[in-house]
Amino acid sequence: DFAPRVFSGIQPSGGLTLGNYLGAIRRFAEMQDRGGHQTIYCMVDLHAITVWQDPAALRRNTRELAAGFIASGIDPEKSILINQSQVPEHAQLGWVLNCVARMGWMKRMTQFKDKAGKHAENASLGLFGYPALMAADILIYHATHVPVGEDQKQHLELTRDIAAKFNHDYGVDFFPMTEPVIEGAATRVMSLRDGTKKMSKSDPSDASRINMTDDADAIAKKIRKAKTDPEPLPETLEGLEGRPEARNLVNIYAALSDLTAEQAMAHVGGQQFGQFKPMLADLAVEKLSPISSEMARLMQDTAEIDRILARGAERAREIAAPILARTYEIVGM
Ligand code: ADP
Ligand code: NA
Repeated sequence: DFAPRVFSGIQPSGGLTLGNYLGAIRRFAEMQDRGGHQTIYCMVDLHAITVWQDPAALRRNTRELAAGFIASGIDPEKSILINQSQVPEHAQLGWVLNCVARMGWMKRMTQFKDKAGKHAENASLGLFGYPALMAADILIYHATHVPVGEDQKQHLELTRDIAAKFNHDYGVDFFPMTEPVIEGAATRVMSLRDGTKKMSKSDPSDASRINMTDDADAIAKKIRKAKTDPEPLPETLEGLEGRPEARNLVNIYAALSDLTAEQAMAHVGGQQFGQFKPMLADLAVEKLSPISSEMARLMQDTAEIDRILARGAERAREIAAPILARTYEIVGM
């Protein structure tokens, strides 16, 4: 039996988006505050470099992401807050798990296909192997629960497949079968350009993306310009079927107000977009602007952020080092 332990990570691959906030960071803070388990949250810089990152930008994005975590309510005393490359056990276990994962499993990963596009032969080997390192991020702490957005569901299934194969091949019950925790009204925030692609910090071409550091005017403008159909909102949730753009805005509204999509429709059903969008914009500004100003404040003292991450790495290694040592022993090293 494994003690409940929560792990999750975000790539320092660009500015945080509303999707990262609603689908991930806000949920991380909730899980921390729920208590009853240890929480470990990670900037996954080793994942970020699977595609080209400008070194100065990566350094800045890593600290800004740490600031985003803290400003969103992650308390580095309650949670262990780390940067992946500062805890070498991630990469060390990652190698072992590269030798457990099968090529055929990796080839089925839809995120690799999306990110590598038509030029898979030119993608880095790291991008292909990404989900095995992600499995190591989780399993190096024997994490039992991983709060994520819906896009990570397949990678979590792979993590379980890798853990099960390791346990089976070596005749041990060493790695847990980790569960994804995909909860809330906004587990997949879509781009405001159209409702068919997810909003992503890693997609530089999407100018409609709401960044956590956007000012009030930028947020309001992006919501005003969000693509919608001309019909007013229906009275009930069922009426949103086949209207992905409208559904996306209702999901965002619901998540920002801590409501289910169904409850949200009781408030906004029947409204014209001319009424609904400004209300949504006000709500987004109200929720995001205290966080972005706190992020800006924290970024004025990057030495303090570095100290927090160094301390986090020490605490993380206390858990990770014995698990790596035991893994090596099991493998015969
Ligand atoms: P991105 O694709 O924005 O670069 P990451 O791959 O770093 O994000 O993922 C960080 C976390 O944010 C993951 O838990 C992921 O599921 C979540 N996430 C990313 N985009 C969205 C989105 N559009 N809606 C909900 N959650 C998201
Ligand atoms: Na992603």
